[in-house]
Amino acid sequence: MESPVLEMTTMSQPETHTEIKTAPEQVKLHTMEQPAEEKKLRKPILKTKDFNAFFGKNQVLKNVNVELSSNQVTAVMGPSGCGKTTFIRCINRMHELTPDAKVSGEMLLDDLDVYDMNTIVLRRKIGMVFQRPNPFPTMSIYENVIAGYSLNGIRLSKTDKEQIVTESLTRAALWNEVKDNLHKKGTFLSGGQQQRLCIARAIAMKPEILLLDEATSALDPISTAKIEELIYELKDKYTIIIVTHNMQQAGRVSDFTAFFYMGELIEFDSTKEIFTNPKNPRTQNYITGRFG
Ligand SMILES: Nc1ncnc2c1ncn2[C@@H]1O[C@H](COP(=O)(O)OP(=O)(O)O)[C@@H](O)[C@H]1O
Ligand SMILES: [Mg+2]
Repeated sequence: MESPVLEMTTMSQPETHTEIKTAPEQVKLHTMEQPAEEKKLRKPILKTKDFNAFFGKNQVLKNVNVELSSNQVTAVMGPSGCGKTTFIRCINRMHELTPDAKVSGEMLLDDLDVYDMNTIVLRRKIGMVFQRPNPFPTMSIYENVIAGYSLNGIRLSKTDKEQIVTESLTRAALWNEVKDNLHKKGTFLSGGQQQRLCIARAIAMKPEILLLDEATSALDPISTAKIEELIYELKDKYTIIIVTHNMQQAGRVSDFTAFFYMGELIEFDSTKEIFTNPKNPRTQNYITGRFG
Protein backbone atom coordinates (compact mmCIF):
# COMPACT_ATOMS: atom_id res chain seq x y z
CA MET A 1 0.00 0.00 0.00
CA GLU A 2 1.23 3.47 -0.76
CA SER A 3 1.89 6.03 1.88
CA PRO A 4 -0.54 8.97 2.05
CA VAL A 5 2.37 11.18 0.99
CA LEU A 6 1.81 9.94 -2.53
CA GLU A 7 -1.63 11.50 -2.56
CA MET A 8 0.07 14.83 -2.13
CA THR A 9 0.84 16.41 -5.45
CA THR A 10 2.42 19.69 -6.24
CA MET A 11 1.59 20.13 -9.89
CA SER A 12 1.43 23.69 -11.04
CA GLN A 13 -1.04 23.18 -13.88
CA PRO A 14 -4.82 23.02 -13.47
CA GLU A 15 -6.05 19.55 -12.75
CA THR A 16 -9.17 17.66 -11.86
CA HIS A 17 -9.50 14.43 -9.97
CA THR A 18 -11.76 11.59 -10.91
CA GLU A 19 -12.32 8.91 -8.34
CA ILE A 20 -12.33 5.37 -9.56
CA LYS A 21 -15.26 3.46 -8.18
CA THR A 22 -14.10 0.01 -9.17
CA ALA A 23 -10.61 0.04 -7.65
CA PRO A 24 -10.02 -1.51 -4.25
CA GLU A 25 -8.58 1.66 -2.88
CA GLN A 26 -9.58 4.76 -4.70
CA VAL A 27 -7.09 5.85 -7.30
CA LYS A 28 -6.91 9.53 -8.02
CA LEU A 29 -6.56 10.47 -11.64
CA HIS A 30 -5.08 13.59 -13.03
CA THR A 31 -6.82 14.93 -16.04
CA MET A 32 -4.69 17.75 -17.26
CA GLU A 33 -6.36 20.55 -19.11
CA GLN A 34 -4.00 20.94 -22.01
CA PRO A 35 -4.06 24.17 -23.96
CA ALA A 36 -5.40 23.83 -27.52
CA GLU A 37 -2.04 24.71 -29.15
CA GLU A 38 -0.37 21.98 -27.14
CA LYS A 39 -2.92 19.46 -28.36
CA LYS A 40 -2.24 20.52 -31.94
CA LEU A 41 1.49 19.83 -31.46
CA ARG A 42 0.76 16.19 -30.65
CA LYS A 43 1.44 13.80 -33.47
CA PRO A 44 1.76 10.05 -33.79
CA ILE A 45 5.34 9.20 -32.88
CA LEU A 46 5.57 5.46 -32.18
CA LYS A 47 3.57 2.78 -33.88
CA THR A 48 3.75 -1.01 -33.79
CA LYS A 49 2.19 -3.36 -36.34
CA ASP A 50 1.71 -7.02 -35.38
CA PHE A 51 4.83 -6.81 -33.26
CA ASN A 52 6.16 -10.02 -31.67
CA ALA A 53 9.10 -10.72 -29.38
CA PHE A 54 10.70 -14.02 -28.43
CA PHE A 55 13.28 -15.42 -26.04
CA GLY A 56 14.33 -18.49 -28.00
CA LYS A 57 11.09 -20.34 -28.74
CA ASN A 58 9.19 -18.58 -25.99
CA GLN A 59 6.98 -15.86 -27.49
CA VAL A 60 6.62 -13.11 -24.92
CA LEU A 61 4.93 -10.37 -27.00
CA LYS A 62 2.08 -11.37 -29.27
CA ASN A 63 0.80 -9.26 -32.14
CA VAL A 64 1.07 -5.93 -30.40
CA ASN A 65 -0.61 -3.10 -32.30
CA VAL A 66 -0.42 0.31 -30.70
CA GLU A 67 0.04 3.95 -31.66
CA LEU A 68 1.45 6.51 -29.23
CA SER A 69 1.32 10.28 -29.63
CA SER A 70 4.09 12.71 -28.84
CA ASN A 71 4.16 14.72 -25.61
CA GLN A 72 2.03 12.25 -23.72
CA VAL A 73 2.77 9.95 -20.82
CA THR A 74 1.80 6.34 -21.42
CA ALA A 75 1.76 3.86 -18.55
CA VAL A 76 2.49 0.23 -19.38
CA MET A 77 0.78 -1.98 -16.82
CA GLY A 78 0.06 -5.62 -16.22
CA PRO A 79 0.97 -8.52 -13.95
CA SER A 80 4.57 -9.54 -13.45
CA GLY A 81 5.96 -11.45 -16.43
CA CYS A 82 3.36 -10.11 -18.90
CA GLY A 83 6.03 -8.51 -21.11
CA LYS A 84 6.19 -4.87 -19.97
CA THR A 85 9.98 -4.69 -19.76
CA THR A 86 10.35 -6.66 -22.98
CA PHE A 87 8.02 -4.23 -24.74
CA ILE A 88 10.03 -1.16 -23.83
CA ARG A 89 13.35 -2.95 -24.43
CA CYS A 90 12.13 -3.65 -27.96
CA ILE A 91 11.57 0.07 -28.54
CA ASN A 92 15.26 0.95 -28.09
CA ARG A 93 16.42 -2.47 -29.35
CA MET A 94 17.94 -3.62 -26.11
CA HIS A 95 15.93 -6.83 -26.40
CA GLU A 96 18.22 -8.11 -29.14
CA LEU A 97 21.23 -7.86 -26.80
CA THR A 98 19.98 -11.04 -25.10
CA PRO A 99 21.26 -14.17 -26.90
CA ASP A 100 18.47 -15.94 -28.85
CA ALA A 101 16.12 -12.97 -28.48
CA LYS A 102 14.20 -12.14 -31.66
CA VAL A 103 11.45 -9.84 -32.86
CA SER A 104 9.09 -9.73 -35.83
CA GLY A 105 6.53 -7.25 -37.10
CA GLU A 106 7.03 -3.50 -37.28
CA MET A 107 8.10 -0.88 -34.75
CA LEU A 108 7.95 2.57 -36.33
CA LEU A 109 9.43 5.75 -34.90
CA ASP A 110 8.24 8.76 -36.91
CA ASP A 111 7.26 6.28 -39.65
CA LEU A 112 10.79 4.82 -39.90
CA ASP A 113 11.30 1.22 -38.88
CA VAL A 114 13.38 1.18 -35.72
CA TYR A 115 14.81 -2.17 -36.84
CA ASP A 116 16.29 -0.53 -39.96
CA MET A 117 18.03 2.18 -37.94
CA ASN A 118 21.55 2.40 -36.61
CA THR A 119 21.27 1.43 -32.94
CA ILE A 120 23.56 4.22 -31.75
CA VAL A 121 21.40 6.83 -33.48
CA LEU A 122 18.26 5.09 -32.23
CA ARG A 123 19.39 4.98 -28.61
CA ARG A 124 20.16 8.68 -28.72
CA LYS A 125 16.53 9.22 -29.74
CA ILE A 126 15.17 6.84 -27.13
CA GLY A 127 16.53 7.28 -23.62
CA MET A 128 15.98 4.77 -20.86
CA VAL A 129 15.94 4.83 -17.08
CA PHE A 130 15.99 1.54 -15.16
CA GLN A 131 14.50 0.30 -11.93
CA ARG A 132 17.71 0.65 -9.93
CA PRO A 133 19.55 3.97 -10.26
CA ASN A 134 22.76 3.20 -12.16
CA PRO A 135 25.02 6.25 -12.33
CA PHE A 136 28.50 5.32 -13.57
CA PRO A 137 30.32 4.71 -10.30
CA THR A 138 33.71 6.04 -11.38
CA MET A 139 32.28 9.26 -12.82
CA SER A 140 31.42 12.55 -11.14
CA ILE A 141 27.91 13.99 -11.29
CA TYR A 142 29.08 16.29 -14.09
CA GLU A 143 30.65 13.44 -16.09
CA ASN A 144 27.58 11.27 -15.60
CA VAL A 145 25.31 13.87 -17.19
CA ILE A 146 27.41 14.08 -20.35
CA ALA A 147 28.33 10.37 -20.39
CA GLY A 148 26.07 9.70 -23.39
CA TYR A 149 28.24 12.07 -25.43
CA SER A 150 31.66 11.05 -24.13
CA LEU A 151 30.98 7.32 -24.38
CA ASN A 152 29.82 7.76 -27.97
CA GLY A 153 32.92 9.74 -28.87
CA ILE A 154 31.00 12.99 -29.40
CA ARG A 155 33.28 15.91 -28.57
CA LEU A 156 31.79 18.96 -26.92
CA SER A 157 33.34 22.31 -26.08
CA LYS A 158 33.64 23.21 -22.39
CA THR A 159 30.87 25.79 -22.82
CA ASP A 160 28.56 23.24 -24.45
CA LYS A 161 29.27 20.73 -21.70
CA GLU A 162 28.52 23.27 -19.02
CA GLN A 163 25.32 24.30 -20.70
CA ILE A 164 24.14 20.69 -21.13
CA VAL A 165 25.00 19.82 -17.52
CA THR A 166 23.21 22.86 -16.11
CA GLU A 167 20.16 22.47 -18.32
CA SER A 168 19.78 18.72 -17.83
CA LEU A 169 20.18 18.85 -14.06
CA THR A 170 17.76 21.77 -13.87
CA ARG A 171 15.17 19.91 -15.95
CA ALA A 172 15.68 16.82 -13.80
CA ALA A 173 14.95 18.95 -10.70
CA LEU A 174 18.37 18.17 -9.24
CA TRP A 175 20.43 21.28 -9.97
CA ASN A 176 19.81 23.06 -6.68
CA GLU A 177 20.80 19.99 -4.69
CA VAL A 178 24.07 19.29 -6.53
CA LYS A 179 25.30 22.55 -8.05
CA ASP A 180 28.05 22.93 -5.45
CA ASN A 181 29.17 19.30 -5.72
CA LEU A 182 29.28 18.64 -9.46
CA HIS A 183 32.69 17.03 -9.25
CA LYS A 184 31.76 14.56 -6.52
CA LYS A 185 30.95 10.99 -7.52
CA GLY A 186 27.36 10.36 -8.59
CA THR A 187 27.18 7.46 -6.18
CA PHE A 188 27.55 9.86 -3.24
CA LEU A 189 23.95 10.96 -3.82
CA SER A 190 20.83 9.43 -2.24
CA GLY A 191 18.85 6.84 -4.23
CA GLY A 192 16.24 9.39 -5.30
CA GLN A 193 18.92 11.89 -6.34
CA GLN A 194 20.79 9.17 -8.25
CA GLN A 195 17.62 8.34 -10.15
CA ARG A 196 17.14 12.02 -11.06
CA LEU A 197 20.79 12.03 -12.16
CA CYS A 198 19.99 9.09 -14.45
CA ILE A 199 17.03 11.04 -15.83
CA ALA A 200 19.35 14.03 -16.37
CA ARG A 201 21.82 11.75 -18.19
CA ALA A 202 19.03 10.46 -20.42
CA ILE A 203 17.57 13.88 -21.26
CA ALA A 204 21.04 15.35 -21.85
CA MET A 205 20.93 13.46 -25.16
CA LYS A 206 17.69 15.28 -26.07
CA PRO A 207 15.80 12.07 -26.82
CA GLU A 208 12.42 11.97 -28.51
CA ILE A 209 11.17 9.28 -26.19
CA LEU A 210 12.03 8.58 -22.58
CA LEU A 211 11.45 5.05 -21.27
CA LEU A 212 11.23 4.47 -17.53
CA ASP A 213 11.08 0.89 -16.30
CA GLU A 214 9.66 0.90 -12.76
CA ALA A 215 11.99 3.82 -12.16
CA THR A 216 10.55 4.67 -8.76
CA SER A 217 9.95 1.20 -7.34
CA ALA A 218 13.20 1.24 -5.37
CA LEU A 219 12.64 4.77 -4.02
CA ASP A 220 11.06 6.23 -0.89
CA PRO A 221 7.70 8.07 -1.18
CA ILE A 222 9.19 11.58 -1.19
CA SER A 223 11.67 10.76 -4.00
CA THR A 224 8.87 9.00 -5.86
CA ALA A 225 6.66 12.08 -5.61
CA LYS A 226 9.52 14.25 -6.95
CA ILE A 227 10.06 11.97 -9.92
CA GLU A 228 6.34 11.78 -10.66
CA GLU A 229 6.18 15.55 -10.68
CA LEU A 230 9.19 15.63 -12.96
CA ILE A 231 7.59 13.15 -15.40
CA TYR A 232 4.62 15.49 -15.62
CA GLU A 233 6.82 18.46 -16.41
CA LEU A 234 9.01 16.66 -18.93
CA LYS A 235 6.16 15.79 -21.24
CA ASP A 236 6.22 19.29 -22.73
CA LYS A 237 9.38 18.17 -24.55
CA TYR A 238 9.37 14.39 -24.48
CA THR A 239 7.12 11.44 -25.09
CA ILE A 240 7.28 9.32 -21.97
CA ILE A 241 6.56 5.64 -21.50
CA ILE A 242 6.59 4.37 -17.94
CA VAL A 243 6.34 0.78 -16.85
CA THR A 244 4.68 0.63 -13.49
CA HIS A 245 2.87 -1.97 -11.46
CA ASN A 246 1.64 0.81 -9.23
CA MET A 247 -1.88 1.75 -10.27
CA GLN A 248 -1.90 4.85 -8.11
CA GLN A 249 1.16 6.05 -9.99
CA ALA A 250 -0.31 5.27 -13.41
CA GLY A 251 -3.41 7.22 -12.39
CA ARG A 252 -1.39 10.17 -11.18
CA VAL A 253 1.03 10.64 -14.05
CA SER A 254 -0.21 9.06 -17.25
CA ASP A 255 -2.46 10.25 -20.04
CA PHE A 256 -2.76 6.82 -21.65
CA THR A 257 -2.51 3.31 -20.31
CA ALA A 258 -1.54 0.13 -22.13
CA PHE A 259 -2.62 -3.01 -20.26
CA PHE A 260 -0.68 -6.17 -21.10
CA TYR A 261 -1.55 -9.71 -20.09
CA MET A 262 0.55 -12.75 -20.99
CA GLY A 263 2.27 -10.95 -23.84
CA GLU A 264 -0.85 -9.49 -25.39
CA LEU A 265 -1.85 -5.86 -25.39
CA ILE A 266 -5.33 -6.34 -23.99
CA GLU A 267 -6.43 -2.73 -23.88
CA PHE A 268 -5.04 0.68 -24.75
CA ASP A 269 -6.97 3.82 -23.95
CA SER A 270 -6.89 7.07 -22.03
CA THR A 271 -5.94 6.35 -18.44
CA LYS A 272 -9.28 7.76 -17.34
CA GLU A 273 -11.16 5.32 -19.55
CA ILE A 274 -9.02 2.34 -18.46
CA PHE A 275 -9.61 3.11 -14.80
CA THR A 276 -13.24 4.12 -14.92
CA ASN A 277 -14.64 2.16 -17.83
CA PRO A 278 -12.37 -0.73 -18.85
CA LYS A 279 -13.76 -2.61 -21.83
CA ASN A 280 -12.03 -5.93 -21.30
CA PRO A 281 -12.85 -8.12 -18.28
CA ARG A 282 -9.13 -8.88 -17.79
CA THR A 283 -8.35 -5.17 -17.50
CA GLN A 284 -11.22 -4.81 -15.08
CA ASN A 285 -10.02 -7.74 -12.97
CA TYR A 286 -6.55 -6.27 -12.82
CA ILE A 287 -7.52 -2.77 -11.85
CA THR A 288 -9.95 -4.02 -9.23
CA GLY A 289 -7.16 -6.10 -7.73
CA ARG A 290 -8.65 -9.50 -8.52
CA PHE A 291 -5.32 -10.69 -9.90
CA GLY A 292 -1.82 -9.49 -10.51
N1 LIG B 1 16.54 -12.76 -20.38
C1 LIG B 1 15.47 -13.55 -20.50
N2 LIG B 1 15.56 -14.80 -21.02
C2 LIG B 1 14.48 -15.59 -21.16
N3 LIG B 1 13.23 -15.23 -20.84
C3 LIG B 1 13.05 -14.00 -20.32
C4 LIG B 1 14.15 -13.08 -20.13
N4 LIG B 1 13.67 -11.93 -19.60
C5 LIG B 1 12.34 -12.12 -19.47
N5 LIG B 1 11.96 -13.35 -19.90
C6 LIG B 1 10.59 -13.88 -19.93
O1 LIG B 1 9.79 -13.04 -20.75
C7 LIG B 1 8.50 -12.85 -20.19
C8 LIG B 1 8.22 -11.35 -20.05
O2 LIG B 1 9.13 -10.83 -19.11
P1 LIG B 1 9.23 -9.27 -18.79
O3 LIG B 1 9.14 -8.52 -20.06
O4 LIG B 1 10.43 -9.08 -17.96
O5 LIG B 1 7.89 -9.04 -17.95
P2 LIG B 1 7.45 -7.87 -16.97
O6 LIG B 1 8.39 -6.72 -17.15
O7 LIG B 1 6.04 -7.56 -17.36
O8 LIG B 1 7.50 -8.44 -15.58
C9 LIG B 1 8.48 -13.61 -18.88
O9 LIG B 1 7.86 -14.86 -19.11
C10 LIG B 1 9.94 -13.79 -18.55
O10 LIG B 1 10.14 -14.97 -17.84
MG1 LIG C 1 9.69 -5.74 -15.80
